[in-house]
Order: sequence, then C-alpha cells, then structure tokens
Amino acid sequence: MRLQKYMAKCGVASRRESESIILEGRVKVNDLVIKELGTKINSDKDIVKVDNKIIEIEKNKVYIMLNKPEGYVTTVKDKHSENIVLDLIDGVRERIFPVGRLDCDTSGLLLLTNDGNLAYKLTHPSHEVIKRYIALVEGIPNNKKLTRFRKGLKIDGRMTAEAYVRIIKRYKDSSVLEIAIHEGRNRQVRKMCKYIRHPVIKLKRISIGKLTLNDLEVGKWRYLTRDEVDYLKKL
Ligand code: URA
Repeated sequence: MRLQKYMAKCGVASRRESESIILEGRVKVNDLVIKELGTKINSDKDIVKVDNKIIEIEKNKVYIMLNKPEGYVTTVKDKHSENIVLDLIDGVRERIFPVGRLDCDTSGLLLLTNDGNLAYKLTHPSHEVIKRYIALVEGIPNNKKLTRFRKGLKIDGRMTAEAYVRIIKRYKDSSVLEIAIHEGRNRQVRKMCKYIRHPVIKLKRISIGKLTLNDLEVGKWRYLTRDEVDYLKKL
C-alpha cells in the first residue's frame, strides 16, 4: 500500500495532508526518513512512524498477561525452537506479540498485545517501568554485595541504574532474592547476580509496574482488565 494511503487509514490525516507530512520529512519507515510520495509499504511488516510515533490501522486492541513457563521463547516465530510463547495463547485471532522479552529459562509475567504504541512505550529505555523478580541464587549475598547491587554495577561496559534487592529466604547453599529494576537490558538480572558472584539458579518475573501475576497459574493467560490497560497507558 502507498505510504500516504496507509497514513490516512491510520487516521493521521487525509491522503493529501499525509503527502505534505511526508514531504516535510516527518515520516519514517523502519526508522528511515522517507520523502518520496510513491513509497510502498507492507502494513504487516513495516514500522511507520509519524513524528517518531508508531502509527497503526485502527483494529481491535487486545492486552494479555501470560504466566510464562520456563522453556518457552519470547518471539513471534522461531525456526529453531519448538516452544514459543504464542503457542500458549489459544483462541485469540488478533496478531499479538510479546512486549519486551523474558529469557527462555525465565518464567513469569509477560504481556502480549497488538498495540504497537503501548509496547513501544513500555519498552522504551526512557519509560522503563519497574519490574519485580524473584531469584533463587547460589549462596547468600552479604550486605556489601547487596549495597553494590543497589547502587549499580558495570554490566557490558555500562553502569546499571539504581536497583532494589532484599533477601527473602536463606537456605544452606542458596538464597531467594526479591529484585526490582526499571531497565530492560539483555539478561540483566542474571548478569547482575553473576557479577556479585551469586549466579541465578531460577528466575521469575512477578510484576510489571502494579500489574502482578497473583494466582494466574504457570502456562495460563488472561485478558487485562480495563483498569489495568488504562494504568499502562497512563504510565
Ligand atoms: N533479567 C534476566 O536476566 N532475564 C530475564 O528474562 C529478565 C530480566
């Protein structure tokens, strides 16, 4: 479909006005500014932004919370993996996708939606919302290590932002930590725990902002309530 037609279908402006917006250099397709009026896009694949905001054809928006089991990959398609999270969501016709990522070996709260704007907002580094995890780690970290964890650690050459951590259970050779971070770097919790020499044995995400798993069983999903969706949109 031609870019200006797509913009009109998304409710940005009329086709004619959309052409002016394109010529003004305010439109990006897959993060490249496009100024040619004839440009064709694939509305299933291409990400179109106007003034840096993703636009989409109005469709039925769905918002889902899944209690992801370990062993499932957080991608829409994976040729090399048998288990993808979408296999767990039955009976939803809309083309949903996961919001952010959980490692294959991490369980817990994962959001899925077809609302590109909300997904973009929730995962953008400047908006990152607080995510809470329960981690079973090797050994029992001492206070010095916990303080370093809270203040920030150099992971992949960059300091992590302030974090929350407390020990909620002590075993002989391991302990259970409650951790909260608001960044979303790759394998961040695992890397932070490894850094203080208490590698993660098991990891589960229990909340995103004020959304919590509560009693949602592992492998089960539910639609978010209206209040929950409104809350996410207001973040
Ligand atoms: N941190 C991790 O290390 N893994 C996750 O899946 C999420 C956060």
